[in-house]
Amino acid sequence: MILILDFGSQYTQLIARRVRELSVYSEVRPCTTTPDSVDLSKVKGLILSGGPSSVTGEDAPTFDPGWLSLDIPTLGICYGMQLMAHHFGGTLGRGIAREYGPSTITIEDNAGIFESWPKGTQLSVWMSHGDHVEVVPAGFVTCASSKGAPIVGMRHTSKPVSALQFHPEVVHTPEGRTLIKNFVFNEAKCSADWTPENFIEQQIAKTADQVPAPAQAICALSGGVDSTVAAVLVARALGERLHCFFVDTGLMRKNEAQSVMERLKALDLNVTLVDASARFLGELKGVSDPELKRKIIGRVFIEVFEEHAKSLKGVTHLVQGTLYPDVIESVSVRGPSATIKTHHNVGGLPERLQFKLIEPFRELFKDEVRLLGKELDMPQEILQRQPFPGPGLAVRILGEITPERVTTLQEADYIFLEEIRAAGLYAGIWQSFAVLLPVRSVGVMGDGRTYDETIALRAVYSEDGMTADWAYLPEDLLRRVSNRIVNEVKGVNRVVLDISSKPPATIEWE
Ligand code: XMP
Repeated sequence: MILILDFGSQYTQLIARRVRELSVYSEVRPCTTTPDSVDLSKVKGLILSGGPSSVTGEDAPTFDPGWLSLDIPTLGICYGMQLMAHHFGGTLGRGIAREYGPSTITIEDNAGIFESWPKGTQLSVWMSHGDHVEVVPAGFVTCASSKGAPIVGMRHTSKPVSALQFHPEVVHTPEGRTLIKNFVFNEAKCSADWTPENFIEQQIAKTADQVPAPAQAICALSGGVDSTVAAVLVARALGERLHCFFVDTGLMRKNEAQSVMERLKALDLNVTLVDASARFLGELKGVSDPELKRKIIGRVFIEVFEEHAKSLKGVTHLVQGTLYPDVIESVSVRGPSATIKTHHNVGGLPERLQFKLIEPFRELFKDEVRLLGKELDMPQEILQRQPFPGPGLAVRILGEITPERVTTLQEADYIFLEEIRAAGLYAGIWQSFAVLLPVRSVGVMGDGRTYDETIALRAVYSEDGMTADWAYLPEDLLRRVSNRIVNEVKGVNRVVLDISSKPPATIEWE
């Protein structure tokens, strides 16, 4: 594998993805990781990431310099380059001009990871530096320069050690892929064997070992991609010893509980429907506060889960679809971020129930999970499903949640999605949904006055839900959706469009 030490750059995960796109496994570890805590026999190459600090500054992150005497092929990026230069005895300079954004570099040395371009070639790159290397350390040569900095690439003349001042991992560095490829295959001599087939085989064998018969495992399914693919994979190892269940909270989209159950059964999963809708709606009665709604739903979900788990005999393991970004977020060099919304998940469960965890995707990104799903012959309608929040429609019904208001939202949401799908826009949009506002306004229908509720339409583009931009929807589609909602959904006389991005808004309204 390629080990990436994270010095806090916002692009560190992207480096891991670029390496994995080459079918080579890579892992991100915090920069404080010491060489003796890692199985070095597996590490074929080391990448030192970028980061916001200055190598000589007081806030420089802790790093064990022992990493640089191990004779592992190494690539330094941005901060990583400065760290290497400093360590090996080069000179750093504070940039006269700080450079952030697009820049052009000139190749000075056609060898090592730069062997793909003749001397003098100019390449577009994404630069980011305050400091830069002024004099390369002994044994190194300059590989590339830019107007803003004389040395933006360097390599050791006899060892597979090189460094870049710019970011090869971002799309704004079009040739970055080739640089990473040259490092991974020519310098670190990795082989391209990190493939979905291999991963599936390894995980099936590993899970079978982890849960020897007659031990049983349990998995709560949400109908979403991660938990469904996890269950299908684990079921290949455990068969009927995996007990899946799907909780109908009464806060799903129209017909969703039935259609999700049908899809899960078609995947040959041993799955039970737990209808807890009356219980959830009962507990939410009279509650309008967004955080309180989320807390109630989280608590009731855990109660339902516990009751169901206890009704099964011999369950020792819990399957969860935890993804890599959730795992590295918690060990990152950055501090914890403020709680904007209490997310509903089953994170609190294992301690209370003392289950052993099976998390086959702890090392994967979401798009890699989709690829696995494809390899497992799962249908596109599951793999391309837009994310749906755990608390469901509760966070899209502003004000009090009543069975009538749930139905109103379900109907409006159904129409919106039906039209989005018919227009062929579903797959390109991160999420599209309707929101029921606690606002009544006056309207006119036929000859009569109405005083009814308002539906907001929300559709966003996003990569990961962390940031989002509102999606452009064609005028005729909006016109049709608005007409249909007002005509077909009882109790709604006004439709508005949400054109806020995240930040400053969030994707969900509560
Ligand atoms: P926000 O509203 O915070 O949402 O911009 C970001 C993404 O997270 C989803 N979301 C949730 N997902 N449990 C989940 O599993 C939750 O409690 C939850 N709240 C929001 C939201 O749909 C969006 O994709």
